[in-house]
Amino acid sequence: MENTDFYRFLDEIRAKVSLSDVIGAKVKLVRKGREYTGLCPFHNEKTPSFTVNEAKGFYHCFGCGAHGDVIKFEMEANGLPFMDAVTKLAHKAGLQVPKFSHEDAEESKHRSSWYEIMELAVGFFEKNLRLPVGAEALAYLTGRGFEEDIIKKFRLGYAPDNNGLTAYLASKNVSESDMIELGLAVLSEKNSKTYDFFRNRVIIPIMDKRSRIIGFGGRVMGNEQPKYLNSPETPIFNKRKVLYNLNFARDKAYENKKIIICEGYMDVIAQAKYGFEYAVAPLGTALTEDQIQEAWKICPEPTLCFDGDGAGVRAAVRSVDRVLPILKAGYSLKYVFLPDKMDPDEFLKAKGAEEYAKMIDNTMPLADLLWRKNMQLQPTDTPEQKAKFEKNIYDEVAKITDEKVRGYYLQDMRNRIYNELRGGARPIVQAEKKKETLNKTNILKIGLKRDLDEKVARFVMAAFVCYPSLVGEFEEKVGMFAIRDTGLNVFWEKLCEIVHEFEHISSEDLWKELEKQNLDKVAVSLWELKMLKQQNLGLLKLREELKNKILEMQLGQIEKEIKECIFKMENSESFTDELYEELENLKKDRQNLLAEKNL
Ligand code: UTP
Ligand code: MN
Repeated sequence: MENTDFYRFLDEIRAKVSLSDVIGAKVKLVRKGREYTGLCPFHNEKTPSFTVNEAKGFYHCFGCGAHGDVIKFEMEANGLPFMDAVTKLAHKAGLQVPKFSHEDAEESKHRSSWYEIMELAVGFFEKNLRLPVGAEALAYLTGRGFEEDIIKKFRLGYAPDNNGLTAYLASKNVSESDMIELGLAVLSEKNSKTYDFFRNRVIIPIMDKRSRIIGFGGRVMGNEQPKYLNSPETPIFNKRKVLYNLNFARDKAYENKKIIICEGYMDVIAQAKYGFEYAVAPLGTALTEDQIQEAWKICPEPTLCFDGDGAGVRAAVRSVDRVLPILKAGYSLKYVFLPDKMDPDEFLKAKGAEEYAKMIDNTMPLADLLWRKNMQLQPTDTPEQKAKFEKNIYDEVAKITDEKVRGYYLQDMRNRIYNELRGGARPIVQAEKKKETLNKTNILKIGLKRDLDEKVARFVMAAFVCYPSLVGEFEEKVGMFAIRDTGLNVFWEKLCEIVHEFEHISSEDLWKELEKQNLDKVAVSLWELKMLKQQNLGLLKLREELKNKILEMQLGQIEKEIKECIFKMENSESFTDELYEELENLKKDRQNLLAEKNL
């Protein structure tokens, strides 16, 4: 049987089986205008945010993002494999299931057609960059030094602000349901109309290892917030598994026996422009275990290149927590911190390729960073403090599960304790020029001080336990901050992992998983959780509260940094432009946050 015939058969099922009947058997539905609403079967809620649109043939939950057609519902709600769901529905519709090949079934799980839709979308964005409507975007890219060859290779584009993509895809017979599922369109809660997800942004397509388009990043051209918007998680886009540019970087990395993991896609693109084609980046979230494993397949000691600012140091420290448990003989990470708060893009522009090459070869081993990180977290002046420090170091080493590696780390740390414990703290960011030493120590202090306010962290995590569906929405925002408390940190990472592993997991099932992993105790220790359970806010209210709390925390941090900056200006002998510029930027950030808060 031909593939197209199989698609036709699926369409017949969709046409003959009433979506509201199938869903209505599981969920109590109430008619509201042209739609039905009810309590979402995929997450816990008290007020309905689950809608069924018979005319469009899909269900959609505004709470957790669950979305699909009748076949997907049958699969997800009853835990059926694809073909079993199809067969069951076919019987319901009084249709005979024709003979089909295994490939047909595989294909019709939509995979290939999903990639085709993404390909249509990227083509649309590329084309719009060349139209008059994309002139500003093209000028933006050229202004950043990205010329024709780079734009072509990375397939950069522009998303106009006219719902053009949705219209274009509709003209190519792409269903609204597929557009939403792929994160290309969003459904308005108010009028159930669909809108383009990316509006007036420069588009950076994200490709998988086979160069298929799986998602997009979109950057504003001005100072609006958020600076970058990434496609949401979709059936073909899992942020935690992808490394941006791995498709192009892989061969070059083998050749050069080197892979650089940096913080963002623009840095990857800038490095490629200067001939460093073996750079990759995670996508807005902290580096995950999966991503480290992926890089290890290519190179046993990837170089993590961080901006020399507070966020960079925090990200580096988090990666240490991440990698210790999975270290194995011969495999590690090494670190580079760029000076003067520069990222790779800025460094290359300022100092050129040669200096950069030197920079990235001058790496700090993981063991060094582990040592310095602990040195910086606590004073080691008195015997008691020294003992505490030693205990902490050994606790960290104990996180290494590989026996051989752990043995050598013990030996290494023991040597350092004997040789260096008298030496006092050394900053993580290397100071190469005397004049700048003071400056950099300060940067580091800010970096460690700007931790996610612990209170907010606890609240956020409690909220996630009540409503796991919130993780997807807030993960990136929270990922930008470090959580100082190691227990909480591990809890947070595991929580995200579980929620990503089990799509639409309910609060109860999440709790069971936490128990399995012995993490329920951490959750029980959150008094915020008890409070939330008592208050019983409901998803929408809680989401509002989360947004506000995170914004307030960000504002608080910016205020601190502004004070710090003014203090530096008042106390430095020469009044530098750099400080002035920093202050201006901070004030801009504050303005943006305030605007967001008042939305
Ligand atoms: P940066 O803020 O360091 O941006 O974020 P950048 O890479 O220097 O970008 P340009 O040069 O200003 O254009 C680093 C990474 O963090 C994620 C993105 O993946 C970005 O590449 N990010 C940042 C977001 O996902 N959302 C944001 O709002 C900001
Ligand atoms: Mn940058």
